[in-house]
Amino acid sequence: MKTQVAIIGAGPSGLLLNRYLAKHGIESIVIEDRSREYVEARIRAGLLETQSVKLMEELGVADRLYKEGMEHKGIYLQVPGERHHIDFEELIGHTVWVYGQTEIQKDLDAACDKAGQEIHYEVTEVALHDIDSDHPSVTFVDKDGNSQKIECAVIAGCDGFWGPSRKAIPDVEVGSFERVYPYSWLGILANVAPSTDELIYAWHPDGFAMHSMRSDKVRRLYIQVDPNDDIANWSDDRIWEALAKRMELTGWELKTGEITEKNILAMRSFVSGKLSHGRLFLVGDAGHTVPPTGAKGLNSAANDVRFLGEGLVDFFNKKDASLLNRYSERAKETIWRVTHFSWWMTTMLHTSGNEFDNQLQLSQLKHLFKNKALQTNLAENYVGIR
Ligand code: FAD
Ligand code: DHB
Repeated sequence: MKTQVAIIGAGPSGLLLNRYLAKHGIESIVIEDRSREYVEARIRAGLLETQSVKLMEELGVADRLYKEGMEHKGIYLQVPGERHHIDFEELIGHTVWVYGQTEIQKDLDAACDKAGQEIHYEVTEVALHDIDSDHPSVTFVDKDGNSQKIECAVIAGCDGFWGPSRKAIPDVEVGSFERVYPYSWLGILANVAPSTDELIYAWHPDGFAMHSMRSDKVRRLYIQVDPNDDIANWSDDRIWEALAKRMELTGWELKTGEITEKNILAMRSFVSGKLSHGRLFLVGDAGHTVPPTGAKGLNSAANDVRFLGEGLVDFFNKKDASLLNRYSERAKETIWRVTHFSWWMTTMLHTSGNEFDNQLQLSQLKHLFKNKALQTNLAENYVGIR
C-alpha cells in the first residue's frame, strides 16, 4: 500500500487526524489493533473544551454533538458542607460540552464510512521502519493473516500510551518525565438521571469524588481509591455509600441506580522527551498523558491534531516544512500547560491521609471560592483558553 501519511491507532487522535488531512486533500491509511466495536464502546473521556468542539465542527463531525451533547457553563467545587459554582460563562464567556468519547468515535467512524475511508481494524505485529529517511514504512499483519506494508512519506503515531510508535524513537526516554500518582480512580457508569445540572468535583477527607454524566439518563461517577485496591472489594452498595458520603450536602440527594460498568484507573502524568523523530510524529496519549482530573487528555490530543495537521498541510500542499519542523515545540507549549493544570487539580483534590496536607488543600479551595482571579485562572485552563 502507498499513501502520504500512515496513521497508527484509530482512537480520537488517529481519526481526527485522518479527517483533518482528508479535508485538505491529503491521503492517509489508518491501522488499529482493536476491533471497531471495542474502540467504539471504550468508556473514557466525556468533556470537551471549546477548541475541541470547534475542531469537530470544522471537520463536519459535530452535528450529533450539538444535538445530543450537553453544554455546561461551569462546574461545582465542593468541600464538606460547602458547594460552590464556578461560572465559566460569567467569568470568561466560554462553555464546555459533555459528550462521550464513545459517541465521538462513532461519529468519526461514520464520517470515515461516508467518505469511503477504510480503517484496518484488528491488525497485529505493527512495526515502524526507516523513520529517519524520507520514505518510512509500517508493516503489519491484517485481520485475515496477510502481511502488509504501507509505504508513506510520514508516520503519525496515534497509538496511545502503550503503542509501538514512541518506542521506535531512539533514546526517547532522554528528557521524558513521568509521575505516577499514589491514588487511582474507581469509575462507574450508571443508568440513572444525573443528580446535578453540572459536574461536581468534591474534596473529602475520605478521598476525592466526582459526579459527571453522559446524557440525561446516564451518569459517570468517580471516587479516589488506593492504587493497590481491587475492584472486587467494591460492591455496588459500597460505591454508592462512598459517593453519597463524599458528596453529602444538606438539601441535596444522590439518587442511586443500576451500575453498568465499573473499573479502577491508574493516574499518571507523562511527557515524552521527543514528540518527533525524522518522519515520525507522536500525537495525543502516545506523546503525553495526564491524570483525568480536569479532563485534558482528549482535548490536548485534539490540540496536537490541529498543530500536526497544519504542519502536514504546508508540507504536502505548499512543499514548506517549516511549520511541521516546529510541531513538537508548538504542541509542547499546550502539553505543559495542561500537564500543570491536571497536576494542580489532582493534587488539590485528592487526599493523602496527612492532616497537614488536608489543611493546605482546604485552605486553597476556600481561598478559590472567594477569589475571582483564581476562579478565572481555573476557568481559562478548564475551557482551554491558552
Ligand atoms: P487512545 O484513545 O489511547 O487511542 C490509541 C489507539 O491506538 C487505541 O485505539 C489503541 O487500541 C490503538 N493502538 C495501540 N497499540 C496499537 C498498535 N500496536 N497498532 C495499532 N493500533 C494500536 N480526556 C479528556 O479530554 N476529557 C475527559 O473527560 C477525559 N476523561 C477520561 C476518563 C478516563 C476514565 C480515562 C481513562 C481517560 C480520560 N481522558 C479524558 C483521556 C482520553 O480518553 C485520552 O487522552 C484519549 O483517548 C487520547 O486519545 P488518543 O487517540 O491519543 O489515544
Ligand atoms: C470526566 C472526566 C474527568 O476527568 C473530568 O475532569 C470531567 C469529566 C468524565 O469522564 O465525564
